[in-house]
Amino acid sequence: MPNSDFLIIGSGIAGLTFAVKVAQACPDKKVTIITKADESESNTKYAQGGIAVVLNENDSFDKHVEDTLRAGDGLCDLEVVNMVIKEGPERLKEIIEIGARFDVNYSGGFDLGKEGGHSENRIVHHKDITGYEIERALLHKIYTTSNIEIYSHHFAIDLITEHQIKKKVTEPNPDLTCYGAYVLNQKTGKIEKYTANITMLASGGTGQVYGHTTNPLIATGDGIAMAYRAKAKIKDMEFIQFHPTALYEPGGVSPSFLISEAVRGFGAKLKTRKGKAFMHKYDERKELASRDIVSKAIDNELKNSGDDYVCLDCTHLDIELFKQHFPNIYKKCQGIGIDISKELIPVVPASHYLCGGISVNEHGQTSIKNLFACGECSHTGLHGANRLASNSLLEALVYAERSYKKVIKDIVDIVPPGEIPEWNEEGTTEPDELVLITHNRMELQAVMRDYVGIVRSDKRLNRALKRLHLLYKETEELYDTTKVSPQLCELRNLITIGYLIVKQSIARTENKGAYYNKNLD
Ligand code: FAD
Ligand code: SIN
Repeated sequence: MPNSDFLIIGSGIAGLTFAVKVAQACPDKKVTIITKADESESNTKYAQGGIAVVLNENDSFDKHVEDTLRAGDGLCDLEVVNMVIKEGPERLKEIIEIGARFDVNYSGGFDLGKEGGHSENRIVHHKDITGYEIERALLHKIYTTSNIEIYSHHFAIDLITEHQIKKKVTEPNPDLTCYGAYVLNQKTGKIEKYTANITMLASGGTGQVYGHTTNPLIATGDGIAMAYRAKAKIKDMEFIQFHPTALYEPGGVSPSFLISEAVRGFGAKLKTRKGKAFMHKYDERKELASRDIVSKAIDNELKNSGDDYVCLDCTHLDIELFKQHFPNIYKKCQGIGIDISKELIPVVPASHYLCGGISVNEHGQTSIKNLFACGECSHTGLHGANRLASNSLLEALVYAERSYKKVIKDIVDIVPPGEIPEWNEEGTTEPDELVLITHNRMELQAVMRDYVGIVRSDKRLNRALKRLHLLYKETEELYDTTKVSPQLCELRNLITIGYLIVKQSIARTENKGAYYNKNLD
């Protein structure tokens, strides 16, 4: 018998929603969540703007579909887009039933915000801390559901498939099956087998592959790297979304604090340091064009002016109302000495979201049997070449539902084709120079920043590939001879992510959405 019926890797919106659903549907089954940091630490916790859902009477599913397709620049899967958007209201209802609270207006309806690329107000939010509220509600539900165990500071190292049991598998193989994962208990230092009938990867994004990112430290692409090593199909890694308005703080604070796109939806204007508006030169929707367009515009302005940042002007807005809508952003700016009623907020683009990931079908199934993926680590076809703002939380809710429906229908006890070996630490020693790991992580981030940013070129991508190859060789040597640590695993995973972004960038022959190579112009 496996340790659990369901093993879930990650405790953001995707993993927790899936866990609640399967646990409630199957009270006799054991649901295990492992997560590598504190239980709430995730990209989800920092989500600001909200969830895009059609609720406004002027709005329609067709309009939201149209906006999503336009942002995705021709690469969205139309069927997936239709399905996700139509399921939005029902999934919102469920998360409210779980306990998440969203702001309402004076007439009692939802207070719907607006963000870039949206033709209507449709962003349901909890002030400017929507993700924090969602995590709070979901974790509360998890703690009160008796057949769910959650283990924090447990780091998934690798998936268990035929690789470990039988022989090395070198090609994607339709018969590959996932039996769980090897997990490092960071409190005891022991690596244990967590076997399961169904494994759900809900391990989030990859922002940390760039030093300059809105993503917290956990966003190191572990799930995608593990799935890649296990020979799952990985798609569209070249589409890294840079958020246009991360707060610029001298000295480079990481992660960067986000100034939500909803602030532009509220009326804030982008200006150069000299106070000149510029977005009208790039798109008729100005500040509310989609993110790829706004980020490229800012990048261009910065290259032309030589400045380190552009500015967000809120001085003309109703500041009392601003404080009600964006209390956290207001407090942050005030805390670093910016009075937004009189001063401009310095902002720069920062790596924010991965549009690609582990390829899944309409039920969240990966190309490996019994392995599912949900949330930012997955590629469903919704986002195409550039995600529309606030479609990510929506996607996670919809695919948690679809995966749960599939697994409760099909779950059976699976039998591995042999004994699953214990983790083999033979020939490894305690790491004596952690500085090698931290240095290589910084070097990787510098390579990605310098050669794989908003504007790419053939020369830069090929240079990045060479540098990544060296980092890969050094890190693999370390991995083969050193006892496994989260730091080393994250570095190894980040190098894999960097490699996938660069390789898939080189393979791309046309500029689309968030991908721009100046040699393809
Ligand atoms: P996450 O929430 O990132 O959770 C991943 C989990 O996996 C974490 O618990 C992590 O610790 C765990 N994990 C990772 N690796 C391992 C491992 N090896 N072993 C064990 N556990 C592991 N989207 C919107 O739609 N609307 C918004 O308003 C919005 N605002 C955002 C603001 C910010 C600042 C950021 C960073 C993102 C925002 N996004 C927004 C994007 C959105 O928040 C994320 O895409 C979404 O929350 C991802 O959810 P997830 O469950 O897939 O991953
Ligand atoms: C934001 O609030 O600007 C982030 C929204 C998102 O990433 O979808």
